[in-house]
Amino acid sequence: MKGNDPVAAFFDQLPDTHKRHFQGRASGASFNFQKRLTLACELGGASSGRLLDCAAGTGEITCALLKSGRFDHATVVDVSAAMLQSAKELVMSQIKNAEVEFVQSDIFDFKPADPRFDLILCLGLIAHTGRLDILLPHLKSMLTPHGRIILQTTLTDHLGTRVVRALTSRTELARRGYRISWFSQRNISEACDRAGLRILESRRHSLAFPFGDRLWARANFQLESRFKQWASRHGADAIYLLGAG
Ligand SMILES: C[S@@+](CC[C@H](N)C(=O)[O-])C[C@H]1O[C@@H](n2cnc3c(N)ncnc32)[C@H](O)[C@@H]1O
Repeated sequence: MKGNDPVAAFFDQLPDTHKRHFQGRASGASFNFQKRLTLACELGGASSGRLLDCAAGTGEITCALLKSGRFDHATVVDVSAAMLQSAKELVMSQIKNAEVEFVQSDIFDFKPADPRFDLILCLGLIAHTGRLDILLPHLKSMLTPHGRIILQTTLTDHLGTRVVRALTSRTELARRGYRISWFSQRNISEACDRAGLRILESRRHSLAFPFGDRLWARANFQLESRFKQWASRHGADAIYLLGAG
């Protein structure tokens, strides 16, 4: 990791906020992070063995997958020391049936001694990194022959995403010190093709009413809940199950 990495510096401020998204019914963000966890467990349901989480955040989703008992080893990576520490506290307190190692690293620089993973989680990452054409081949190089990647992105195919992008690009750049990367379904499927990865399954969620959490966060949770059926077909967030074989 470079010492002045603005992404790491931004997420170093965020563990408490991020953790809250996995508890309760306070906002549209909490609805959607909890949904992300459920869908990641669903898509990872046929995997077992060795798990890599390449941007674990505060570790709730890593932990949920490990609780299945199907993984005997996990490598938990994050570029932010504070996020990784929070993930470590959670995972060490809840998981007793797997060997778990924690690595503070930019995933682009991560070169494990044993690069054979049966499942790689890549959730909430690519908006902060871009460079799919480097990332996907790198992740593929760490997969076992029948290994799987679970990749999440917010999609610009969704009108709400385009509205938010148009209205917040400049303020977000000033707030974060780096530019958010945006992807359409087509960007993802073309990058997968170039990397030699197939989209085996996908799920959609998130109504993503623009600025809903800023207007009235609790009501936005209810709105997300009420429109979950619609969002499962047209939602702003997509989670893909990818495989090479
Ligand atoms: C929005 S959080 C998502 C956390 C978790 N995967 C989830 O879905 O709840 C994004 C995480 O990616 C990490 N991150 C950003 N860029 C990274 C990089 N290049 N390598 C590893 N982790 C990175 C951040 O520190 C942060 O913890």
